[in-house]
Amino acid sequence: MKYREIHFEEIGSTNDYLRDNYSSLDNFTIASADYQSHGKGRNSRVWKGNPKENLAFSILIKNKDLVTYGGLFSLSSSVGVSKIIEKYLPNKKIEIKWPNDVYINDKKVCGILLEGNLPNYLVIGIGININQKDFIGEYRKTPTSLFLESRVEFDIDEFKKELFDELINSVSLTETKIKNQLDYFESHNYLKNKIVDFLYDKNRYQGKVVGVDNSFNLLIDIGEKVLSVSSGEIELIH
Ligand code: BTN
Repeated sequence: MKYREIHFEEIGSTNDYLRDNYSSLDNFTIASADYQSHGKGRNSRVWKGNPKENLAFSILIKNKDLVTYGGLFSLSSSVGVSKIIEKYLPNKKIEIKWPNDVYINDKKVCGILLEGNLPNYLVIGIGININQKDFIGEYRKTPTSLFLESRVEFDIDEFKKELFDELINSVSLTETKIKNQLDYFESHNYLKNKIVDFLYDKNRYQGKVVGVDNSFNLLIDIGEKVLSVSSGEIELIH
């Protein structure tokens, strides 16, 4: 599958770059950077990373699949990242925290931020901690990196090439692929059977995560019923 990479030594945010230029760029353009001065996380948080030690990139989706598959790009991108990490660290417990964080042994190694204006475009922004050795400051979730989990220094370019191929394949959606990705997610579901606190419809709830449905909505048993919620509708608290 074909993609084109545009690489920056430094940029504000690769997500913002694709958002600002999407009309003149092709489907599957990937913007990557050695360093982002204003990296963005979910829920208006910041995404930080030492220069040249990690991967920060965004993939532009601008095809008809956006209308058909909308919310499933979240599933496809996290599964793609998780599979490659699992390939490099076969003995580690790799899990996906719905909707799209990747965890190793309970610590966050990858965050994904999807932004867009459907049906015009979608930007899938992915940050993976690769060789960073220390994380100074406050983090909502304990961070880790591939180095910290393996004590092996990674060749970022080699890892990146393999990852980009996997991701472009993952987000080139078909019904069969989606079924396989849902099965993969189910067996790597970090929240499965966990009790979660969350905000939904301006109210605070607590419930037990029982799985996801075919649209990748999270299914939460709140006692009197099972809620099916999309990532835009709820905010998990913890
Ligand atoms: C999160 O876990 O909160 C999501 C983090 C997403 C970070 C990536 S790094 C590349 C892309 N550009 C950004 O500004 N953010 C995403």
